[in-house]
Amino acid sequence: KKKIAVMTSGGDSPGMNAAIRAVVRTGIHFGCDVYAVYEGYEGLLKGGKYLRQMQWEDVRGWLSEGGTLIGTARCNEFREHWGRKQAAYNLISEGIDALVVCGGDGSLTGADLFRSEWPTLVEELVKDGTFTADRVEPYRNLTMVGLIGSIDNDMAGSDSTIGAFSALGRICELVDYIDATAKSHSRAFVVEVMGRHCGWLALLAGIATGADYIFIPERAAPKDKWQSELKEVCQRHRQKGRRNNTVIVAEGALDNELNHISADDVKNVLVELGLDAKVTILGHVQRGGTAVAHDRLLATLQGVDAVKAVLEMTPETPSPLIGILENKIIRKPLMESVELTKSVATDIKNKDFDKAIMLRDTEFME
Ligand code: F6P
Repeated sequence: KKKIAVMTSGGDSPGMNAAIRAVVRTGIHFGCDVYAVYEGYEGLLKGGKYLRQMQWEDVRGWLSEGGTLIGTARCNEFREHWGRKQAAYNLISEGIDALVVCGGDGSLTGADLFRSEWPTLVEELVKDGTFTADRVEPYRNLTMVGLIGSIDNDMAGSDSTIGAFSALGRICELVDYIDATAKSHSRAFVVEVMGRHCGWLALLAGIATGADYIFIPERAAPKDKWQSELKEVCQRHRQKGRRNNTVIVAEGALDNELNHISADDVKNVLVELGLDAKVTILGHVQRGGTAVAHDRLLATLQGVDAVKAVLEMTPETPSPLIGILENKIIRKPLMESVELTKSVATDIKNKDFDKAIMLRDTEFME
């Protein structure tokens, strides 16, 4: 009987619970035992009560729950060899040799490393007498499948990540609220949104709310020139009758000399223009809360496919990432997508912004 563990890692994202639910129920449907790893990699290291077998009814009602109900953590110990060895010990002790990880690129890279190291870790556990060779024989390989849970939508090779559209929807709703008060007072608001090094949330929120101006890392603003351009645009919109101004700033926004552009930098320029300007940093309200229908569906379809992938994989199959491309659930070699995602950061560092935009797979950015 296949035993599959499912865990969430890194920042939570709306839809993670739907993904766990789908893995649990699909696994049970196919006759597997499914375990939840509580508290991300930290739970994998601690083992025992952090690995709990899940029943069909345990995940009832999880579609509409925000965050991740099995907890998550950013765990430094898992970066260490001894930490991964401890995690391997805990999994083998429970008889688990398949892991579905829902997280961002860092968490998934850690999972892929764990998988590639697994045979060595098992060998070490035999050599130091922790397990006999017979005991570990059925666990010589680890099967690992990745699901991208992140509001940032920063993974190359997938049109969207679990949680991105929920965060986007929430940002739009909040910007609408801000616009209402801004119009009342003829004010300008600079709204900072999340996304880490990715401008997807800022860009799409800006378009969806009709913002005056948007700052994203991939289309870096020209140093010493963006200030006058911003003023000119906001002024032009006012002359056309707009009563307020909205500027969306990605938290990772840069100028083309790679200087960070903060919401306050932008506000100061608007104040120079004589506007009554204020800053709103949306923060974690973007990440919490329930998932929109798109993310519930995406997470469900991907969770189902993750279990199928586990059952179909051979030790030679590279760890797959389950994504969505042109409305189809797809499997891609995980590390291929991770490498592409990392290369965007390198392109930005090298000021090759056109290439960075291309790799983001978002038509709007071009
Ligand atoms: O990756 C998701 C994300 O919400 C980013 O957009 C943000 O930069 C980061 O996580 C915040 O992390 P934390 O919740 O640990 O402060």
